[in-house]
Amino acid sequence: MKLWRGGCLATLAGDRGWGLVDDGALLVDGGLLRWVGPAAELPPEATNAEVVELRGALVTPGLVDCHTHLVYGGNRAHEFEQRLHGATYADIAKAGGGIRATVAATRAASEAELLASATKRARSLIGEGVTTLEVKSGYGLDAATEARMLRVARQIAGVDVRTTYLAAHALPPEFGDADDYIAAVCQWLPGLHAQGLVDAVDAFCEHIAFSPAQVARVFEAARALGLPVKLHAEQLSDQGGAQLAASYRALSCDHLEYLSPAGVQAMAQAGTVAVLLPGAFYALRETKLPPVQQLREAGVPIAVATDHNPGTSPTLSPLLMLNMACVLFGLTPEEALRGLTVHGARALGLHDRGQLVAGQRADFCVWDAGHPRELAACFGHNPLIERVRHGIQGGS
Ligand code: NIG
Ligand code: FE
Repeated sequence: MKLWRGGCLATLAGDRGWGLVDDGALLVDGGLLRWVGPAAELPPEATNAEVVELRGALVTPGLVDCHTHLVYGGNRAHEFEQRLHGATYADIAKAGGGIRATVAATRAASEAELLASATKRARSLIGEGVTTLEVKSGYGLDAATEARMLRVARQIAGVDVRTTYLAAHALPPEFGDADDYIAAVCQWLPGLHAQGLVDAVDAFCEHIAFSPAQVARVFEAARALGLPVKLHAEQLSDQGGAQLAASYRALSCDHLEYLSPAGVQAMAQAGTVAVLLPGAFYALRETKLPPVQQLREAGVPIAVATDHNPGTSPTLSPLLMLNMACVLFGLTPEEALRGLTVHGARALGLHDRGQLVAGQRADFCVWDAGHPRELAACFGHNPLIERVRHGIQGGS
């Protein structure tokens, strides 16, 4: 048993509030939180535990980055320049750039190369406190490369990885017809699932990607295997993707700048998490805001993630996303931190992490900060002192 004591805990226990505990302690046993509370009330079994002094530092749950495209080849900095010269994301995609440019580079990369570059990126996320990370496929768009991406994601060390099958991300060049490609996407899924490579299934529902009817076919294939679904929905336009995803009880709908009131209601009824991605909003210089107040009023849980990808969100800073979620989307610092912890976990269907509560996994971060709101108020600054994953310091 190990005891961390003498810190300010932001437990995020319950549905709202920071859950602050001054001079708090965490008792850890077997990778789980055994007891959390004021140090003055420690239970007797803490007497023999090995002690780590927190010296007044802040402790939060470990960060959960629930939406990334971390495994890929190449980079797309030239598209950043093109957009600054006036091209839109959709223009670049229609001209064969965008996702398809990354597909070409990813297909050309070996498994070892993909693992080396993804590991480097994961190190940056881990260095800012990420303990659980989702990684999507979707830059292979053929059976072999999608499998390679998912295998690589599973090999990233030092962080818990959940993998999402996103072959319905773009139409690959060798297919002329999107319906034919969707048939292939559905056909590849059972084999990948049988290899244990898929935790969830995602798609890009957009006028430059796939229609709701095509996405529904992918969701049917997921349902047949008992796999949960997620959706890139209403990023550039309102396609009614949120309603479709909610009808499949999706874990999450992500982006959501163009989400309609009907979409909000459908998500609320289905218990679907809204994953907001301020990095993509910022990098695309989007001006349409996701309907945060409507999501709040409807009681839709809001998550925040990096959406790390080489095109629309080349950030490796979850802390910057906390700040941007507040400044750009109007989240409170508490909502933003819940978004990168407990609600991020819910967006992955994980209920065993995200709060500092007895029985949860001992995944937490120790910060050089006096109050959790400081994590969102600052940007370009990393106050992480230590990250603990599954009860292990350094967390590897
Ligand atoms: O989440 N919107 C679609 N997918 C990614 C972008 C992928 C890319 O441009 O490479 C996103 O923003
Ligand atoms: Fe994405």
